[in-house]
Amino acid sequence: MTGFTISALLMLGAISAVASKSDSGMTLRKAASKHKIFVGTAVEPRFFEEPEYRQILGDEFSVIEPENGMKFASIHPRPDTGPNPYDFVGPDALVAFAKSHKIKVRGHTLVWHSQQPRWVTNGSLTPVELSSILRKHIQTVVGRYRKSIYAWDVVNEAFNDNGSLRSTVWFDHPGIGFEHQGTAYIEQAFRWAREADPRAKLFYNDYSAETIDPKSDAIFAMAQDFKKRHVPLDGIGLQMHCDLSFSRPEVLRSFEANMQRIADLGLDIHITELDIRLHDDTSASLSAQAELYSKIIQICRRQPRCTLIQFWGFTDKHTWIPGFYRGQGWPLLWDSQYVKKPAYESVLSNLK
Ligand code: XIL
Repeated sequence: MTGFTISALLMLGAISAVASKSDSGMTLRKAASKHKIFVGTAVEPRFFEEPEYRQILGDEFSVIEPENGMKFASIHPRPDTGPNPYDFVGPDALVAFAKSHKIKVRGHTLVWHSQQPRWVTNGSLTPVELSSILRKHIQTVVGRYRKSIYAWDVVNEAFNDNGSLRSTVWFDHPGIGFEHQGTAYIEQAFRWAREADPRAKLFYNDYSAETIDPKSDAIFAMAQDFKKRHVPLDGIGLQMHCDLSFSRPEVLRSFEANMQRIADLGLDIHITELDIRLHDDTSASLSAQAELYSKIIQICRRQPRCTLIQFWGFTDKHTWIPGFYRGQGWPLLWDSQYVKKPAYESVLSNLK
């Protein structure tokens, strides 16, 4: 053998060693499954046509949730009295993708103050009409995806930051029989959802309620009351739209304590919309982000009732952050070219 061939062979060997090391087939979903944790992401079916999007989704995640497609205005854009009240095209495509990749689906969301159609919010409906519309909406949407959706965000963001109940069309006009308002309309929504699908896990979901504060106290009090009276609540969703201030030790301790009190009630915890927004993508910011992701994963892993870590998307190419937080972005695990960021490696190694 000539010197040239030997060195060429050695080089090939070195290349394939590198390739097999980085291409070991380990993925977020595989790593997490050993600990009975699911890894999810929000999804927009219109991006399925991007090959990288489809590939990463199918390989890395064990749960998907529509980022917008099951919200009231998307899925039920027109009144029941006219033609085509519902639009199931996007949600059906998402569910089909999930089935063909053995991925579970989370439903989001049945009762929310935002992304509602004008025909619901324009003030023309009486409380009794609103109540019957909501009941039929829950029956129809939950009923259609029975057996396809394993967990639902039944009610989203019903509390203000000070712990009072948010004024919404559903809270303000809760229909006949709710003279004592409070959380009665929330309870009713959970009961309707349970009727429509006795097997789906039913969640209350909110933001800025990760640590112990007036809002998470109010949610906890509602959860205690619901458990005591056997209202069908299975878990609490913590959205976790974070910035780097979440890495302060006292914040992380309070987050862990909040999860513990929810777990002590016998409820599951889903991290539902995790992202960590930055002001720039310097390597210092990206490594601080990676570090915070690992701390959050570690805290979830220490809590047996924390059974889902779900990100609000996976590529910086398609994130809601710059549109909602001026000057901020870069919150996810893959960059806008679908290249893995330091955050990806740190999430993976903490899931292993
Ligand atoms: C956001 C979506 O990401 C955006 O595309 C949309 O324009 C607005 O809603 N809390 C929630 C999510 O429960 O549904 C929100 O999603 C983000 C905040």
